[in-house]
Amino acid sequence: MIDEKMQEALNYQMNRELYSGYLYLAMGAYFEDQDLPGFGNWMRVQAQEELTHAMKFYDYLVQRDSRVLLAEIEKPPSEWDSPLAAFEHVYEHEQMVTGLINGLVDLAMELSDHATNNFLQWFVAEQVEEEESSSGVLQKVKLAGKSGSGLYMLDQELAQRVFNPPAASE
Ligand SMILES: [Fe+2]
Ligand SMILES: [Fe+2]
Repeated sequence: MIDEKMQEALNYQMNRELYSGYLYLAMGAYFEDQDLPGFGNWMRVQAQEELTHAMKFYDYLVQRDSRVLLAEIEKPPSEWDSPLAAFEHVYEHEQMVTGLINGLVDLAMELSDHATNNFLQWFVAEQVEEEESSSGVLQKVKLAGKSGSGLYMLDQELAQRVFNPPAASE
């Protein structure tokens, strides 16, 4: 069992990971509608990753004999002004998630919950990667600018992204 406050916070984070997946699916659908299927693919893979993040919280709660409590997932936006605006949103969203993870670590430390702190360290490292990959694509979208050929080339590149499920031990 873990502290009730910690349990509540972990359930909330599981909900935020599911919302992240929902947000990226919405962005994927937006890109498909913009005839940028490579961008759509990148978002689809991103959404799949977010679902694996949510499942890590689910599994950890089960493992600690705590309750998994599913809550409402709010409606994400469905439109963005441009591919650039969408990727600015991704980068901001990931920075916000990093802040949430840091808050969870603070709570685990406050409660001297070393096991949960240890569990959360995977997410601390993951958020470094999430910020790096989203800001990387954001920079490329900026470079492509409004040029149709630049966006087309980038779309080809983003079409290559594949989903790699994390190893069971990870
Ligand atoms: Fe995540
Ligand atoms: Fe993420």
